Amino acid sequence: MSEKNHNVSRRQFLTYTLTGVGGFMAAGMLLPMARFAIDPVLQVGAEGDFIAVAEVDELTEEPQRFDFSFEQEDGWYTSETTNTAWIYQEGDEIVALSPICTHLGCTVNWEGSDDYPEHFYCPCHFGLFEKDGTNVPGRPPTEPLHRYELEVRDGTVYLGRPEPQI
Ligand code: FES
Repeated sequence: MSEKNHNVSRRQFLTYTLTGVGGFMAAGMLLPMARFAIDPVLQVGAEGDFIAVAEVDELTEEPQRFDFSFEQEDGWYTSETTNTAWIYQEGDEIVALSPICTHLGCTVNWEGSDDYPEHFYCPCHFGLFEKDGTNVPGRPPTEPLHRYELEVRDGTVYLGRPEPQI
């Protein structure tokens, strides 16, 4: 009776080894690309997140600064992020504006300059915005301050993402 030959030739060994290593390397490259491609699908919940920022009772016609914190996930890393909104109420309308200057991203302040009462002022390049966030012509910013998505539930103001006004 003949004994089966279980020896692997050098050629077969190299073929199996290279196929295995090649497959492993290909998977290492393709999996991150696949995850990147479907990442928005995996984060469906994040886009609709609104954060409680203020009580309607404490709002006035004058914009007030509200700071709020939330956990931000970036891949595997979670960090505590703090944002700011300038919020005011005029009649039935509640407005929440981003403090980020639309010129180069400095922070604007309500009545930040004694020379410009009733305006948002950016000290970096003298940017000026009306109360509703409209940029004053002739100044560096060329678009209005971004406005937060906003919901009111049970007397509490919830903010989503700041969106461009134009
Ligand atoms: S960054 Fe605000 S005016 Fe330039």
